Amino acid sequence: MSKTPRKRQNLPNDIVDLKGKRAIVCLTAYTAPMARIADQHCDLLLVGDSLGMVLHGLPTTLGVTMEMMILHGQAVMRSSRNALVVVDMPFGSYEESPQQAFRNAARILAETGAGAVKLEGGVHMAETIAFLTKRGVPVMAHIGLTPQAYNTLGGYKVQGRDEDADRVFADAVATAEAGAFAVTLEKVPSPLSRRISAAINVPTIGIGAGPDCDGQILVVDDVLGFFEDFRPKFVKRYAELGESAAAAIAQYAGDVRAGVFPGPEHSFDDIRTGKNA
Ligand code: KIV
Repeated sequence: MSKTPRKRQNLPNDIVDLKGKRAIVCLTAYTAPMARIADQHCDLLLVGDSLGMVLHGLPTTLGVTMEMMILHGQAVMRSSRNALVVVDMPFGSYEESPQQAFRNAARILAETGAGAVKLEGGVHMAETIAFLTKRGVPVMAHIGLTPQAYNTLGGYKVQGRDEDADRVFADAVATAEAGAFAVTLEKVPSPLSRRISAAINVPTIGIGAGPDCDGQILVVDDVLGFFEDFRPKFVKRYAELGESAAAAIAQYAGDVRAGVFPGPEHSFDDIRTGKNA
């Protein structure tokens, strides 16, 4: 008897349907073990290009490649069943033309099985978003602070304060009207996020954008407290796994040096215990 593959629970439309009903829970995930845990609690998992900095030690996201995104996208897809998996399009893979964007987005969807891609940019990317969505590629937009524009924005600053608010608002409206199924708002003042969330008919997903977005996203390694020296204001740490990991590894190193590990219970056919499984 042939097995019918189990349907993934969340598709982009399911995320859209949550707007106005309840908060949409999103997190990044880059690896199989983390995807397995986060999938049980999240509506959407983002294979963000932040993986370049978080996992690969790059100084910015600019060096992330298609191959990196596809490899991590595959790992997350293999270990999740429920959440919609969205894969970031890396810098340089979509900005040149809608055709270039389609070619690379289609490759990401085909090789990972993910349900959607995310790309950075507002008004100037609207044509590309429309081109992709009309051709079967669901797109999550990302506006406000767009880390791939680090060099032109002059750092990771809050976007849309005071007279700059109308620019970010126009980006939100343009990407939603172009067909994005959700719009990520990064480092945007809370009153502006509230205005955008009320004005567009697809969900806003905030990161450093206050409580009035339709959903929230954070980098999972920030949530779990893996980094001692990186504590942005918008992150709430729910664990201190960096500290726990350092303590555990120090204990392991001490045990090996002291000859305490491995003990008989971790050894086979040990002279102290004889044959055991
Ligand atoms: O790459 C990333 O992790 C993101 C954020 C929105 C979390 O784009």
